[in-house]
Amino acid sequence: MVDVESVNFFTESTLVNDPYPYFDELRGRCPVHPVAQPGVVSVTGYAEAVEVYRDGEAFSSCNAVSGPFPGLPVQPEGDDIGALIEQYRDQLPMSDFLVNLDGDSHTMQRALLRRLLTPNRLRDNEEAMWRLADRQIDEFIDDGEFEVGAHYANSFSLMVVADLLGVPERDREDFRRQLGALKPAPDVGMPAQVTSHDPLEFLHQRFTEYIQERRREPRSDVLSELAFATYPDGSTPELDVVVRLSTFLFAAGGDTTARLIASAMRILAENPEYQDLLRGDRRRIADFVEETLRLESPTKSDFRLTRVTTRVGGVEIPAGTTVMMHPGAANRDPRKFDEPDRFRLDRSNVREHIAFGRGAHSCPGGPLARAEARVSIERFLDRMTDIRISESAHGPAGARHYEYEPTFILRGLTKLRLSFTPIG
Ligand code: HEM
Repeated sequence: MVDVESVNFFTESTLVNDPYPYFDELRGRCPVHPVAQPGVVSVTGYAEAVEVYRDGEAFSSCNAVSGPFPGLPVQPEGDDIGALIEQYRDQLPMSDFLVNLDGDSHTMQRALLRRLLTPNRLRDNEEAMWRLADRQIDEFIDDGEFEVGAHYANSFSLMVVADLLGVPERDREDFRRQLGALKPAPDVGMPAQVTSHDPLEFLHQRFTEYIQERRREPRSDVLSELAFATYPDGSTPELDVVVRLSTFLFAAGGDTTARLIASAMRILAENPEYQDLLRGDRRRIADFVEETLRLESPTKSDFRLTRVTTRVGGVEIPAGTTVMMHPGAANRDPRKFDEPDRFRLDRSNVREHIAFGRGAHSCPGGPLARAEARVSIERFLDRMTDIRISESAHGPAGARHYEYEPTFILRGLTKLRLSFTPIG
């Protein structure tokens, strides 16, 4: 058992493959509990996490992605550090991305995003997912085996966002290449790193060109809608704002969804009875995805900076404290979910999980991620039978080994190799 008082959650390698006993230990002591890193409090309880997510007044999102690294450059003092946050927020990593904004600037950009992710756009995007899934599966169907991330999910999730934003068809292969999501050479477990530069820089350049071009010469395409989307007051956002919003969708929607698909496929391959059940009743696939989101929440940590001294779950959190949320811990809180460590398809309250956060910043890509996982599973079941874990990669049943990515931000398998029998 790890010593929660002394273990460094951010660097401790033994917590990577299975962080859940650590989360349980913390929650058992108190759902709002300081960790070894000074000035950081961990929230492992469901009700407490929802309370923090919903309170944008007391908790700033300025550090949502970076947490305590590097934190504010000065030592905060007093019970209200609102002014200090405003003074230094520009110095925090990714400070001008939606997820790190607060108050009006967040509301404005979020409204812009809502204008882009219209029900019509999402419907068209879901239609495209079927083609994108098939195209990806075509690349390995004859092999009888594949690595879920490198051969399918990384590329698929990237191409779904490219389609959502209307990236022209002729440029998409370049996106796959530049963002390192092409099918790797045989026997190489991870995507070929063919990028010669920062992927976000590549996206930034491309979207700047697209939006500038459409603002000069509008067409009837999604990129033109993006270029002319306005704030609720009718004003037009700066070019940079639209570009940042677009590039952020790739960053926010790619890795997370790819991890979700891999977790779902591990559970499906480990439990063949679910393959039969879901093949027989496709409507249950949505429940399957939901329970996967609860049990293996892809966002492992997500942060807030306490603006004013506040109490959560009866515990005082001083202003200046970094609050570390763990959706995966909250989603295994036994006060909320019975038998929280078990995968159960019949949970009546499964949709109350907080894998997509809650409150003003809750994930706007939730419907998209759910559809991506649902469509993927459905196409796997249509085109493959007897989907099983590759024993040469992960060991025999009862003695499996899986490696998870050594990051405190995401929960995801480094690789998942599956074997199957093609249908047809
Ligand atoms: C399984 C997949 C996904 C998971 C687990 C996930 C999780 C989350 C979580 C927990 C947040 C809240 C962050 C916070 O409150 O600090 C968030 C925000 C966000 N997500 Fe997702 N996400 C997923 C997929 C996507 C997709 C597919 C997109 C879009 C293409 C997307 C776009 C965003 C954006 C733009 C935000 C920021 C919203 C804001 O700050 O107002 N996400 N996501």
